[in-house]
Amino acid sequence: MSEKVFSALWAEIEVIGRVSSGGYLRYALSEPELVLRDWFRNQADRRDMPVTDDGNGNLFAWWGDQWGRGAVLTGSHFDSVPHGGGYDGPLGIVSAFLAIDRMRAAGHTPGTPIAVVAFVEEEGGRFGLPCLGSRLLSGAIDPAKAAALTDQDGVTFGEALGAIPAGPLPGLRSRIGALVELHIEQGRQLEVPVGVASAIWPHGRWRFDFTGHGDHAGTTKMSDRRDPMLTFAYTVLAANKEARLSGAHATMARVEVEPNATNAIPSLVRGWLDARAADTATMDSLVEAVTKRATERAGRDGTEVAVTPESVSAEVTFDTALASKLSTLLDDAPILPTSAGHDAGVLSAQVPTAMLFVRNPTGISHSPAEYAEPADCTAGVEALATVLSELT
Ligand code: GLV
Ligand code: MN
Ligand code: MN
Ligand code: MN
Repeated sequence: MSEKVFSALWAEIEVIGRVSSGGYLRYALSEPELVLRDWFRNQADRRDMPVTDDGNGNLFAWWGDQWGRGAVLTGSHFDSVPHGGGYDGPLGIVSAFLAIDRMRAAGHTPGTPIAVVAFVEEEGGRFGLPCLGSRLLSGAIDPAKAAALTDQDGVTFGEALGAIPAGPLPGLRSRIGALVELHIEQGRQLEVPVGVASAIWPHGRWRFDFTGHGDHAGTTKMSDRRDPMLTFAYTVLAANKEARLSGAHATMARVEVEPNATNAIPSLVRGWLDARAADTATMDSLVEAVTKRATERAGRDGTEVAVTPESVSAEVTFDTALASKLSTLLDDAPILPTSAGHDAGVLSAQVPTAMLFVRNPTGISHSPAEYAEPADCTAGVEALATVLSELT
């Protein structure tokens, strides 16, 4: 396949949901993501691939029997983090359609059905819980609980979907033979165009509610303050330090302040900790250490802190036999772990799952600067076609 073919299809979606930062605002089931879902249906139509929805908001475009035994799924997600990059998600879906074109041009007839999948709400950017679509499909979350998740405007996931989600696919383990998700690598580890994933670090989100005493910024003596912003600021530094000491990753990047006024000491600061590590014990002790230091500091500041886990994803080891098979098929492509979360990680608890990574030359992701070379994306499509031809 030529780079031109990739670039032509890529150009169709590259404009959707782009904002003035140069990044993308594509929240699940919001206007630009709905446009992308229409684009998906359109691409499927052009290829005579009937589209189904699993009742959870995940879309499937079929080559072969819908939910026939041992179907091979391939795809990713359209939603982005706010001002995120263009490749995280959509690259896997565009590549899947192009891989099917390539397989058809080569005269391949799949012995098992293939579906291109678009998972809903992978980033958790709108409703707060990442990989919501794959969690619903695989039964990792209660549909009623998912339906009640609320966005910043008070709209629930159930309302956005127009229904209570259907929940797990009956007979999932026999219906899905494998899932192969292609994704931009998101780090600087991959030095060749295409690699294969070995594992995903355990990771999660914890909400820290710091409460104090709201008061006047001008008239309250420094010694009389119970300022939760101080406790929060200390916690941000402590999280960074603890992560550096243990080789883990800790980020506090989202914050809400009440009343959020220049001249009022806040009564509440709510901050989210994103913590990840190579193993669960290290991640757990990081969160424990940050919680302990936040609590000690709250004692000194006259504030209080409450910590609530919002989502914790266990360590994932992808099917090792499948990963080495793919690596061999792809001329000994490197096998590497990642510390980013993916729907493939959720599905891996139930079905054989693999991921292909496309080189990310700067390693930047979740940012407008995220980029992949068209030549590498083209190599990704070719690799995906090779893998799907072998698996079907
Ligand atoms: C999602 O991309 C994540 O790793 O947070
Ligand atoms: Mn992402
Ligand atoms: Mn992604
Ligand atoms: Mn992700």
